[in-house]
Amino acid sequence: MVNIEDLRRIAHARVPKAVFDYLDGGAEAELTLAENIRAFREVTFRPRGAIAVHDCNLKTNVLGYEIAFPAMLAPVGYSRLMHPEGEVAAARAAGEAGTGYVLSTISGHKLENVRSASAGPVFYQLYLLGGRNAAEGGLERARKAGFSGLVITVDTAVAGMRERDPRNGMKELMGSSVLAKLPYAGKFLSHPGWLLAFLLDGGMPKLENIIIPGEGPMKLLDVAAALAESTVTWEDLHWIRELWNGPIIVKGILTGDDARRAIDEGAAAVVVSNHGGRQLDSVSPSLRALPEVVAAVNGRIEVLMDGGVRRGSDIVKALCLGARAVLIGRAYAYGLAAAGHAGVTRALQILRADVERTLRLLGCGSVAELNRSYIEIPAAWARL
Ligand SMILES: Cc1cc2nc3c(=O)[nH]c(=O)nc-3n(C[C@H](O)[C@H](O)[C@H](O)COP(=O)(O)O)c2cc1C
Repeated sequence: MVNIEDLRRIAHARVPKAVFDYLDGGAEAELTLAENIRAFREVTFRPRGAIAVHDCNLKTNVLGYEIAFPAMLAPVGYSRLMHPEGEVAAARAAGEAGTGYVLSTISGHKLENVRSASAGPVFYQLYLLGGRNAAEGGLERARKAGFSGLVITVDTAVAGMRERDPRNGMKELMGSSVLAKLPYAGKFLSHPGWLLAFLLDGGMPKLENIIIPGEGPMKLLDVAAALAESTVTWEDLHWIRELWNGPIIVKGILTGDDARRAIDEGAAAVVVSNHGGRQLDSVSPSLRALPEVVAAVNGRIEVLMDGGVRRGSDIVKALCLGARAVLIGRAYAYGLAAAGHAGVTRALQILRADVERTLRLLGCGSVAELNRSYIEIPAAWARL
């Protein structure tokens, strides 16, 4: 497995189509999904020759936490479907690689177990699924477990239309009617290894971090409907701010105006993100939105970005445009689906080695020194 695409191919072979498509797909025509990746290709390097860099410093600091290289793991819902070890394996691999992990609310493992799987920073991404009471319970548990900060995702007013999911019968597969599942069963039988592991793991995971008072862990039968009822607003952010003393990261920012609003609401960092092209299709690729947000923030808080990162050179380009670090979503989730903990570890090894090699080829000794002089951006971006 030489690059992330290799992990993607193995994931494709290992997990049923419905699971792979959930992971791999994007919203509607998947324009933003493709553009996220293409935007990195449009940025070219301007290396400095005849410079020997021996000890490359890849370390950076995110919200006071030192990480070994500038990429953390993004929240990925339903990781336990990709592999039974799911979020625990991902957090453990992140910690071992010296970096951070963000746990999605839509997670099958208890947040306490995920937190204790890593010695590194672990953040909790909060959706208001199940309402404010359930969210308050989750926040309290995250505080007690020692989470490093909260990530509030603001681009999910409703779930995006990921057209591959209804074609694969995702809703029926998550539901309780055996009859409704039957038309889709064949595709699972063709992946007996995954199916056996899934059944031994207890079947469809419950959402262990959304406890509905008086009922227990939420069973998420219809993600789209549940998300539509729990849109996070700026007023909610205000409310969360009062309940949570630690740092808050606002994820899903694509404009300077929203970045300024996030600062006004007390955010310690923003993530320039379009949810990996899974929400509003046709929004700009994250990399292209990054300069506007960096300019608007003007050094007041930290700016992270995600979307389309598949190589270490992508990470370097994002840092040249002003990101403190990136989050990676599919790049590690392909590894998780391909081989659990070992697959996530391999994804992180690949990306880290890429970053180091790219820096050395650029003639740059540390990620802290990266700036615009190392890249050329397309003329159409130049006004930014
Ligand atoms: C399968 C999958 C599930 C995701 N679930 C969540 C989630 O629960 N919460 C969230 O804030 N973002 C979620 N995201 C978005 C990621 O956190 C991240 O923004 C995105 O994956 C970055 O793009 P990339 O996959 O190209 O790296 C998900 C992404 C994927 C691929």
